[in-house]
Amino acid sequence: MRVGAGAAAIGSAGKVMFLEPARAMASPRPVPPSDRLRFASIGTGVRGCEDLQTALRAPGVEMVAVSDLWDGRLVAAQEHANKKLDTTKEYRRILDRKDIDFVIVATMDHWHAKIVEDACAAGKDVYCEKPMTHKVPEGFRIIEAAQKYNRMIQVGSQRRSSVVFAKAKEIHDSGALGQVTAVEGWIDRNSPSGAWVYPIPPDANPQTIDWQTFLGDAPKVPFNLKRFFRWRGYSDYGEGLPGDLFVHILTGIYTALGLEGPPQKAVSGGGLYRWKDGRDEPDLLWTLYTFPGLTVSVRCNLNNNSQGGGTRVYGTKGTLVFDDETSVTFIPQDTRPRPEDYSVGGWPKKLREEYWAKWKQEHPAPPVTSLKVVEQVQTYRAPDHYDEDLVHMENFLNAVRTRTPCDEGPVFGNWTAIACHMANYSYFNKSVANWDAAARAIKG
Ligand SMILES: NC(=O)c1ccc[n+]([C@@H]2O[C@H](COP(=O)([O-])OP(=O)(O)OC[C@H]3O[C@@H](n4cnc5c(N)ncnc54)[C@H](O)[C@@H]3O)[C@@H](O)[C@H]2O)c1
Repeated sequence: MRVGAGAAAIGSAGKVMFLEPARAMASPRPVPPSDRLRFASIGTGVRGCEDLQTALRAPGVEMVAVSDLWDGRLVAAQEHANKKLDTTKEYRRILDRKDIDFVIVATMDHWHAKIVEDACAAGKDVYCEKPMTHKVPEGFRIIEAAQKYNRMIQVGSQRRSSVVFAKAKEIHDSGALGQVTAVEGWIDRNSPSGAWVYPIPPDANPQTIDWQTFLGDAPKVPFNLKRFFRWRGYSDYGEGLPGDLFVHILTGIYTALGLEGPPQKAVSGGGLYRWKDGRDEPDLLWTLYTFPGLTVSVRCNLNNNSQGGGTRVYGTKGTLVFDDETSVTFIPQDTRPRPEDYSVGGWPKKLREEYWAKWKQEHPAPPVTSLKVVEQVQTYRAPDHYDEDLVHMENFLNAVRTRTPCDEGPVFGNWTAIACHMANYSYFNKSVANWDAAARAIKG
């Protein structure tokens, strides 16, 4: 990645530079037949349909089959693929096919681990949607399965491959931020759709949906359309706000700062204040994480969206500001030395004036003016039509072809998933969540 030549000055408030992605975005290039990849999608709801379209935008990729539990999704997948596909409600039938190189797993979260493990055992590479797991032990099982069967796994938190977060990491690693001690990130919403109150299709019923398979290892409850289509509100199938949104914020922060491992500690506050429709997940969650030398606050509020989404990285020499996923701004702190003004107010005039005179003698005119500090403000922007989903998918496809590791393998996916589980542990147990690395478990 390099900064584009077309840098444009914007007033005195710094510059905007356009980033050039390292990897070409789906440029049509010939792929030899031997390099063609055939795939199937397991789970083709909202995200599964997006993922399959993203994969099909890359050269040399062909979709051959789809598995989902509602008839309507099997139809939608074929419409998006613009092709008649092999369809089934039993994903194992897809895994038994010998002509499939990889699968996209975009089911509800409580099914991810089982399908990924089965896919690895069947010799398929896997693009698995985020968050990688529903429960802590699943992550370690997925890592073992990938190693045992020599499979490529990419977890679907696309910020991991983004040119914007790569630039942020470059700025961080250059030392320009100084010592980073605090980070905050948030995604806020204020609408029924934002609170996962999705419309329920009129033809959804026990004949068109395989309810027993949907439940999987979740508690057996009677057929319930809200649980199937608005599953994010139920801890039986997802991880609420952490699994849906924290994981994106955390992936960006981990990437920009080069963090490794789960957080040491998490403390959550929040509640289900407004969207009381039978769900057990909160509509506001605010979590304070502890990492070595660093405190990170992550918040999602479904009851006010005046702040939208953003991340701030606070260092002793500068701040990184992300207002969305398409740009990052570096704002230097003015750290030029200054004579003490505040505390000497209580000194006798003579001593005070002597102090100031001495200070002036010891500090000749500063080489850096305040204008110079302002000029160092720089915004790095992804190019128009930059598609981090596509870049993330292409990174996976390249790994499948070349057997080089993905940007977001299961080890990384496990760290951010555990961070989500820690936020929920703290909220639901009303206690601190500590990560016990030796026990590979969250402890209160
Ligand atoms: N990366 C992102 O930006 C992003 C965005 C949205 C969703 N997601 C993730 O994608 C996943 C899916 O979310 P969604 O919004 O598309 O959900 P969805 O409810 O729209 O679709 C999930 C589909 O999975 C199917 N399914 C569940 N168990 C199955 C099984 N055993 N076999 C076959 N099909 C099965 C269901 O029938 C359903 O149609 C979630 O893990 C979510 O967190 C990621």
